[in-house]
Amino acid sequence: MISLINLKKNLTVALLILTLGFVEIATNSQIAIADTATTPATATATAAEVFSANCAGCHINGGNIIRRGKNLKQKALKKYGMDSIANISNLVTNGKGIMPAYKDRLSEQQIIDVSAYVLSQAETDWK
Ligand code: HEC
Repeated sequence: MISLINLKKNLTVALLILTLGFVEIATNSQIAIADTATTPATATATAAEVFSANCAGCHINGGNIIRRGKNLKQKALKKYGMDSIANISNLVTNGKGIMPAYKDRLSEQQIIDVSAYVLSQAETDWK
């Protein structure tokens, strides 16, 4: 009888250890998956966040609520010579007309990243 109880105890302990082991494996592999998934996407996510926090107010979906023609669609960017990271960065840094300057609000890297984001969004027509 005693040995049966002991066996049960041992089984329970064994099961517990097994379960914990699985949980640990599961958690670890989740971390591994999360790591590979976030590393390449980080730059884009940050630029998208910068855009929605600073630009989307006027440029929602790549439009322009103030000067409709000066939107962020490929056609307009080409027409106004804004189809390069350098030119967009320059505009964002210094502002123009009603569009504010961002040199005191965003880092140089953030401005470059958000400019690249504008170009890549324009390529897919903001969809
Ligand atoms: C307060 C509204 C406002 C905000 C906020 C704003 N813009 Fe603008 N943006 C404008 C206006 C107005 C123009 C047109 C400027 C001009 O040429 O007179 C413009 C022009 C542009 C252009 C050139 C578009 C073209 O077709 O020539 C780009 C690129 C641009 N903005 C990107 C951005 C980015 C990136 C941000 C955020 C960092 C931003 N804008 C924030 C109002 C805004």
